Amino acid sequence: MADMPPFVAIVAAMAVASSFILAIQARAAVTPLSEAQSDYVEYCAGCHGMQGSSAPSRVPELRDRVGHFLCTREGRAYLIRLPNVAHAPIRDDAQLARLMNFVVFALGGKSAPSDALPYSGSEVAAMRKNALKQTALVNLRRRIVADLVRRCGAPPDLHGFSAGAPFTGEAGATRSVQSKR
Ligand code: HEC
Repeated sequence: MADMPPFVAIVAAMAVASSFILAIQARAAVTPLSEAQSDYVEYCAGCHGMQGSSAPSRVPELRDRVGHFLCTREGRAYLIRLPNVAHAPIRDDAQLARLMNFVVFALGGKSAPSDALPYSGSEVAAMRKNALKQTALVNLRRRIVADLVRRCGAPPDLHGFSAGAPFTGEAGATRSVQSKR
């Protein structure tokens, strides 16, 4: 810009700067995460993976599987009563319901029964008051999954933490007993 009159150089510089800003704004406008998605990333994805799939011997796969739990009343409540869900640092029950609807219907894919209703805030409020203790989880999960397999035709490998994989790990980030199936 050395040979331009100063005014032209300033306008040219401003044009460059504003197109740069527009480019940044255009980038920021690209599909922002929904509140439920960003809550999932913040509070759950560290263990369960960005796509609902992570170390499956220790952490159950959510992807294309977690929706099965909606088939029974107990299974539906189990998902909200899980310590990491019931005690998630999301105070607003409706917000937690939206997060769980993302988990079961988006990550869960086709595994959710076609007539399953989304969680409501008041339903989540009641269920999370009845949070599970980590030690009770393994037996309760086994019983719920047996019921889902028997009554709803869920795949038997739902007993494990991922498709086709036997359950080999410890349940929970905390200590627990090994599944004997
Ligand atoms: C510290 C790691 C960790 C975090 C954080 C975590 N989870 Fe989990 N999650 C687990 C483990 C381990 C299990 C297996 C059951 C258990 O022992 O708690 C589990 C079980 C589940 C299940 C039941 C799946 C099944 O097949 O039994 C769901 C649903 C779930 N978590 C959702 C969430 C959601 C939603 C969040 C975020 C609010 C979350 N989890 C945060 C580790 C975690």
